[in-house]
Amino acid sequence: MTENGSATLLIIGSGGREHALAWHLSRSAHVARLLVAPGNPGTATLPKTSNVPLSMDDSEGLLALALQIPVDLVIIGPEKPLCAGLGDRFVQAGLPCLGPGAAAAKLEGSKAFAKQFMVRHGLPTASFGVFTSSREARDYIDANPEARVVKADGLAAGKGVVVADDAKQAKEAVCDMIEYKRFGSAGQQVVVEQRLFGREVSLFGLIHGTEMLYLGSAQDAKRLHDGDRGPNTGGMGALSPSRYSTDDALGRQFFQKMTSALHQEGLFYSGFLYIGLLIDDQDRPHILEFNCRLGDPEAQVLLLRIQTDLAAILLDLVQGGTLQGHSISTEGHAVGVVLAAAGYPGEPRIGMPITGLANTQSHGATVFHMGTRGHGDRLEVAGGRVLTVCATGTNLQAARQRVYAALAEIHFDGMQWRNDIGCFREP
Ligand code: GLY
Repeated sequence: MTENGSATLLIIGSGGREHALAWHLSRSAHVARLLVAPGNPGTATLPKTSNVPLSMDDSEGLLALALQIPVDLVIIGPEKPLCAGLGDRFVQAGLPCLGPGAAAAKLEGSKAFAKQFMVRHGLPTASFGVFTSSREARDYIDANPEARVVKADGLAAGKGVVVADDAKQAKEAVCDMIEYKRFGSAGQQVVVEQRLFGREVSLFGLIHGTEMLYLGSAQDAKRLHDGDRGPNTGGMGALSPSRYSTDDALGRQFFQKMTSALHQEGLFYSGFLYIGLLIDDQDRPHILEFNCRLGDPEAQVLLLRIQTDLAAILLDLVQGGTLQGHSISTEGHAVGVVLAAAGYPGEPRIGMPITGLANTQSHGATVFHMGTRGHGDRLEVAGGRVLTVCATGTNLQAARQRVYAALAEIHFDGMQWRNDIGCFREP
C-alpha cells in the first residue's frame, strides 16, 4: 500500500461517472494527486485534481503521460476505450490499470458474446437468437411470439436496444439495424430475445481475478419521459439502493458466479462490472446484460452512498493485495436526476449558457457534470446529457426532495428532465 497521501491516479473519461469517481477518490487520504483525461469542468474544480487535455481515444498520449508521471493506478471509465483494448495497452506497459482488457470487455462489446457466455455458465437469461440476416431474424420473430427485444450486437451508447410491443415493431427494429445500418457496424449483427416482464435491478461490483467485492445496487430510468415513456436514452436518472432489491446476498451470489465463470474461461478481469437483472413475478432473477464498467448516472448515486475509501482498496489491490476481508459500507438513499439538452437523445442542441449551479449547494445537493464546457467564465451545454443533480437522505423521499429543490435553481434553454425519479410506479 502506498503511504498516506502519496499516490497519483489517472482517471480516463469525461462524463458524470468519471466526475463522481474523481469526487470520491479525491477525498481519500491515500491520494495525493488525481489526473482526469480529458475530464470536464466539474472535475477541474475538485481538490488535488487537474484535467489533462488528452482524448480517451489517444492511447499513445495517455500511455506516455502515465509512464512519465508515473501514475500508481489508471482507472478507465467508459466502455469504448475498454472494448478497444486500452486496458491491455496499460497492462502491457507494466502500469496498474483498473478496467478489463478487450477480451473480457466483450461482455459489453458484444451482446451475442454475453448471451453465449451466460448459456455456457448456466446463468439465467431470456431465450434468444443471433442473426446477421434480416430475413432470418424476422422469421424468428414470427415463429416466437415472445421474441420482442432486438439488440444491436455492438456498442450503441445505451440506445441499441428496442423493446417492442408486437412483432411488427420488432421486425422494424431488425430492418433499422441490419438493413438501414442505424447503429453502423454495431447493428450488423443483432440479438433477438424473449421479452421478460418484471422489476429491473442494477448490481455493481468489483472483480479482480478470482476475487470480488460487491458494491451495491441501483435502479436507472432509461426512457426520456416520466412514466417510462418515450425513446431510450443513456439514462435519465437513478437511485440507490434499488427499491426492488435490498438483499445484498443476491448481488454477492451473482458476482461470485460471474467471477468463477470468467476464471473458468481463462479471462482475467480486473475492474468494475455491472450486472443488469430482471426479477420476474415469481421472484426469479434473469440477467439482461453486462457492462464492463460503472453505469452513468448509476455511478453517481452509488458513489455518493459509499463511505468506504475505495482508493485504499484499489491501491492495495494493484500492489498485490486482496479483496478478501473488505466490505463496503453505505449510508442512506441517493437519488440522481439527469438534465439533458434539447434534442437529446437525437441531435442535442449545444452552446447554451448554464446558470444557477452555485445555488444548488444550499439544498445539500451534489451536481456532477456530464456534458458541459467552459467558455470564458461561463458554463455551456456541450453534450446530450449535461448534468446529474444528486442528493442523499435517510430515505428516498428526503433525497428526492433535495434533488428537485436543487434542480429548480438550474437553467439552460431547452432543459429536459424527468420528474418521477425516486417515485417509480411498481411495474
Ligand atoms: N446508464 C446506463 C449506462 O451507463 O450504460
